[in-house]
Amino acid sequence: MDKITGEQEQDLIRRAVKARELAYAQYSKYRVGAALLAASGQIFTGVNVENAAYPTCMCAERVAIYKAVSEGERQFTAIAVVTANGGSPCGSCRQVMAEFGLDTVVLIANSEGQLLQKSTVADLLPGAFLPGDLNIR
Ligand code: THU
Repeated sequence: MDKITGEQEQDLIRRAVKARELAYAQYSKYRVGAALLAASGQIFTGVNVENAAYPTCMCAERVAIYKAVSEGERQFTAIAVVTANGGSPCGSCRQVMAEFGLDTVVLIANSEGQLLQKSTVADLLPGAFLPGDLNIR
C-alpha cells in the first residue's frame, strides 16, 4: 500500500481541500472534493455536482475519475476524498474505482486536511464485480 510518499499524500489532500471549494452542492450542502493521482503523474480533481433533479447528482470521486479517463488515463495510484467530516466514498464510487484497479490507495480526509483513513479500493469493496466477471470473448 506504500505506493505514494507522505509528501504526495499531503499534496493530494491539499488539492482535494482546494477543489472542494468549487463543489456545486446547493441542495445537500455537503461539499466533497477529490484529487486523483494517475500513474502518469498527472492529477485530476473533482467535486460533487448536484442538480434540481436530485437523482442526477454526481459524486466528486467519479467526476475526477471520468475527467481522467476522458483524457486517456486508466491507471490510478491514489485518490484523496475530502469532506467536512471525513465521509467515506459511496458504493457507486467504489465500484467505479474498482473498474480501474483494486490497488489504488484511497485517502479519506477532513476539510482541515487531516488524513483519517488510508486504505485501498480492495479494502473498501471486497468482492467487487470486475471486468473479468463478464467473460466476454
Ligand atoms: N457525495 C460525493 O460526492 N461522494 C461520495 O462518495 C458520497 C456522496 C456527494 C453526492 C451529493 O452531492 C452529496 O455528497 C450528498 O450525498
